[in-house]
Amino acid sequence: MGEGVLVVGAGAREHALVWALARSPEVDRVVATPGNAGMAGLAECVDLADDDAVVAYAAAEQLWVVVGPEAPLARGLADRLAAAGVRVVGPSRAAARIESSKADAKRVMRAAGIPTAEAVVVHGWREAEAALDRFPAGVVVKADGLAAGKGVTVCEDRTEAAAALRALLVDDALGPAGRTVVLEERLAGEEMSVMVVTDGTRFAYLPPARDYKRLGTGDVGPNTGGMGAVAPHPAWTPALADEVAARIIDPVLTQLRREGRPFRGVLYAGLMLTAEGPKVLEFNARFGDPEATVMLPLLEDDLFPWLVAAGGGPWPARAPRWTGAAVGVVLAAPGYPGRVATGIPITVEPGEGAVVFHAATVRDGAGRLVNGGGRSLVAVGLGSDPETARKRAYAQVERIRFEGAQWRRDIGETSRPGR
Ligand SMILES: Nc1ncnc2c1ncn2[C@@H]1O[C@H](COP(=O)(O)OP(=O)(O)O)[C@@H](O)[C@H]1O
Ligand SMILES: [Mg+2]
Repeated sequence: MGEGVLVVGAGAREHALVWALARSPEVDRVVATPGNAGMAGLAECVDLADDDAVVAYAAAEQLWVVVGPEAPLARGLADRLAAAGVRVVGPSRAAARIESSKADAKRVMRAAGIPTAEAVVVHGWREAEAALDRFPAGVVVKADGLAAGKGVTVCEDRTEAAAALRALLVDDALGPAGRTVVLEERLAGEEMSVMVVTDGTRFAYLPPARDYKRLGTGDVGPNTGGMGAVAPHPAWTPALADEVAARIIDPVLTQLRREGRPFRGVLYAGLMLTAEGPKVLEFNARFGDPEATVMLPLLEDDLFPWLVAAGGGPWPARAPRWTGAAVGVVLAAPGYPGRVATGIPITVEPGEGAVVFHAATVRDGAGRLVNGGGRSLVAVGLGSDPETARKRAYAQVERIRFEGAQWRRDIGETSRPGR
């Protein structure tokens, strides 16, 4: 008898999780809440109104629960599930603070000696303005709390920094999430998203990825939740894996255990590969989105035993293996990352060597597939090498009709990004 799994979330990350779980020989039932229209055929989608309903449903149906997004983790969904005897993949609220408070993450990193940008934490406008003097070579302004990718400004100069601080601390643009601010030194280098599954002590790497934050081709325009991703990251090597393990992953897991809040689940370290070695930009308490859409299809081994391991089950004997390359191109609705229209019809004709993961798509009254938010689809091309994967991803994009959609033309190009 196989297991049943409930995936919480509606995004492309959750679609990719559902896709991976549906392939597992150990899983015979996949449910998603609320899920999206792209999951049809892979998962039952159920609308569970709130956390109480999720706990009750998972307990009654005897399902494992995999929590996709950060917000439910930050409000303690994993704790509540565990208290009800439900087997859950995702950290406790206390452990998830490593993501939900950037000031907390800085304190943890300082305590554990983890390489990261120099930073100060400020609460008031005057204090913040004065602290800018400490970052003559460039500063990054970060809202402490969860901001769905809208809390960070990488500042070109002091005027921009002051404006970003004013928005958070005077105009209260993000509410409580922005009333504490982390000011940090601006680092230069290439970024990398490293994810591990961990039981709080042991950990295993999943395929490292590169994501593309800026809206526009050529890495220009506003920051977004992510406009594309590639895996594996071209700069990943066994030596880097050892260095990241010794200087970052082991120390953070040890520190969180010491603080009485072991991290169990998927830990994401956002790294900058600087001239002085890898430094941590942030930690996330879950799979990246869109990174999951390019990482999960590369796994040669079943994902489910690793989720079980992160949820307190037995630790598999051998580290997960991956092969080939994946390139994911996000298609976003017109207006994104600002206000977007929803209800725009989408048609997808499947292409060769490609998978399309949906984000928040729904069926309208007439049964048509329509968008339900900004980032709406990820066209993922797969291949034995990055160039094949890239070509297949863009060939798949051409087979999608989505009026006014925006996508970057340069995802997976081998030239290095400008910053
Ligand atoms: N210290 C830094 N120096 C340069 N760029 C940074 C720095 N911190 C963050 N960034 C840029 O801002 C992006 C978002 O910052 P991050 O800390 O990952 O917050 P979030 O993902 O919560 O918005 C990063 O992916 C990176 O491009
Ligand atoms: Mg980030």
